[in-house]
Amino acid sequence: MTSDGRRIVEARGIVKNYGQFQAVRGIDFHIEKGECFGLLGPNGAGKTTTVRMLCCVLPLSGGEMTVFGMSVREHPRRIKARLGVCPQENNLDPDFGVRQNLIVYSRYFNIPKAEAAKRSDELVRRFHVEDKAGTCVDDLSGGLRRRVMVARCLINEPDLVVLDEPTAGLDPQSKHQIWDEVRDMKAAGRTVLLTTHNMEEAQLLCDRLIIVDLGRIIETGTPAEILAKHGGGTLEDIFLKLTGKQLRDE
Ligand SMILES: Nc1ncnc2c1ncn2[C@@H]1O[C@H](COP(=O)(O)OP(=O)(O)OP(=O)(O)O)[C@@H](O)[C@H]1O
Ligand SMILES: [Mg+2]
Repeated sequence: MTSDGRRIVEARGIVKNYGQFQAVRGIDFHIEKGECFGLLGPNGAGKTTTVRMLCCVLPLSGGEMTVFGMSVREHPRRIKARLGVCPQENNLDPDFGVRQNLIVYSRYFNIPKAEAAKRSDELVRRFHVEDKAGTCVDDLSGGLRRRVMVARCLINEPDLVVLDEPTAGLDPQSKHQIWDEVRDMKAAGRTVLLTTHNMEEAQLLCDRLIIVDLGRIIETGTPAEILAKHGGGTLEDIFLKLTGKQLRDE
């Protein structure tokens, strides 16, 4: 399968089965170079499953997906080298401090030691965790750990950054810092895939988005297009309407 150069990701009819259960039921989407693409949907919709297939962590059960024009089935290593991934669950190494976590992670990408140290220092500064650089990650607050996760995914200067609910559980200040970082990623020419439940976040950051439910795409477009199509309101109203989860007294 070939990809046009602007398409960083192209998914066609992708399926994921967990035994008898189909979590992703044949979805099509593409992500263009330089955009922030949103993947929205209620709990259990299939967002993380989709993200994990894109990141070559879970094999596809059906369909085709290319990332950077390469099939996820054939070139997982080459794809992973150009991805920056912040998974939904924190997986920092509890044996190390913040800075050391960044350095250890850089080894997956064969980044030379001196360069890894330089990039780690830079990220520690950029993400405002200088005073915690030597602190064991288990001793950080949940919000700080999340910030370190987002910092870590930039260590290899990725072309595509994949953020699975990067701001879940963050206070407003930390949330805004992550939003600024996403804007900076775009300004630096990176493409971003953002999974979120936060409709304000989606509206502020995403150039285009899809809403998935029960493993299928139920809406797609720019935030403005989706709002116009549904006659205004907020993205959250539309999300609730589409996913059949309106509050009873509304
Ligand atoms: N390893 C697994 N084995 C069996 N079922 C799974 C597995 N992982 C996920 N599922 C199921 O697949 C569906 C999609 O899960 P997924 O984690 O992709 O949802 P999600 O959209 O990321 O949800 P959330 O917003 O809660 O993170 C859910 O019904 C989930 O229970
Ligand atoms: Mg998830």
